[in-house]
Amino acid sequence: MKILVTGYPGLLTNDLVPILQEDHQVIPLSIEDLDITRKGDVFKTIENHLPDAVINCAGYTAVDQAEKDWEGAFQANALGAHHLALACRHFESILCQISTDYVFDGRINRPYQPWDSPNPINVYGASKLAGEFIVEKLLNRFYIVRLSSLYGKNGNNFVNTILNQAERGEPVVGVIDQIMSPTWSVNFSRGLVQILASGNFGFYHLTDRTDGGISWFDFAKAILKTRGLKREIRPITSKNLDRPAPRPPYSVLDTRYLTLATGYHPLHYQEALEQFLK
Ligand SMILES: NC(=O)c1ccc[n+]([C@@H]2O[C@H](COP(=O)([O-])OP(=O)(O)OC[C@H]3O[C@@H](n4cnc5c(N)ncnc54)[C@H](OP(=O)(O)O)[C@@H]3O)[C@@H](O)[C@H]2O)c1
Repeated sequence: MKILVTGYPGLLTNDLVPILQEDHQVIPLSIEDLDITRKGDVFKTIENHLPDAVINCAGYTAVDQAEKDWEGAFQANALGAHHLALACRHFESILCQISTDYVFDGRINRPYQPWDSPNPINVYGASKLAGEFIVEKLLNRFYIVRLSSLYGKNGNNFVNTILNQAERGEPVVGVIDQIMSPTWSVNFSRGLVQILASGNFGFYHLTDRTDGGISWFDFAKAILKTRGLKREIRPITSKNLDRPAPRPPYSVLDTRYLTLATGYHPLHYQEALEQFLK
């Protein structure tokens, strides 16, 4: 397939692009190549390349900053997706929209299914939900793939932060009252390849497997243990962090339907962490 990828470089696309390139012709686009908030440019780019599929990894991802920048978040995450959906409809490309666990409110005590009702509790989540809604309404041939708590070799992410803090001898803290499933960008990318190959359009949840979820505190413990670092981790609550954007207390995504529909078995988070740290 000829696949156009927006949002390059980025935490996800740094791993996604080379993995897609193993089997596909890939056109990675930076914001300088294509700003998805510009409708005319989106149409021109899709017309020039006529891709079989577009994977939209571009987005406004600063969750706390979004609380004071509704317009910025909605411009990239909703209007940008809107432009891509219109252009994909016009030029008959498949659109794969990357989304988030933050579309859910976290007031549940079991992992979320792709068909559970979203109810975002922060601006970022609301803007991503708007993007999902528009893509679903405008297209028949779409995938909406939600992930959570991404980490990978490049970019700002929890695993690197914990390792840097521990190696510099700084205090390490982990939040105990947010339960999630971490996602290694390589594991996600391999799953996405299989979703694209399936032709089973629709909604998917794709994260590392945690069997019910883990807290950031537990994940920090696993990171240090896997790296062989003996450091104390202080458990803290979300309240202690006092961040502008509230986070869902429980945002574990159930990946069983993904396995049923695509045959992809996500790695267990411990295995993913071991492979990543190697
Ligand atoms: N990271 C996570 O934990 C997480 C969790 C759930 C879902 N997701 C979703 O996964 C996707 C990828 O996330 P990520 O963490 O890899 O993001 P990232 O590292 O922040 O990368 C986002 C990319 O999008 C670009 N971009 C921003 N606005 C754009 C625009 N208007 N037009 C074109 N490109 C634009 C950014 O360019 P600049 O760097 O120049 O701004 C950057 O290249 C996003 O859809 C995000 O919502 C991420």
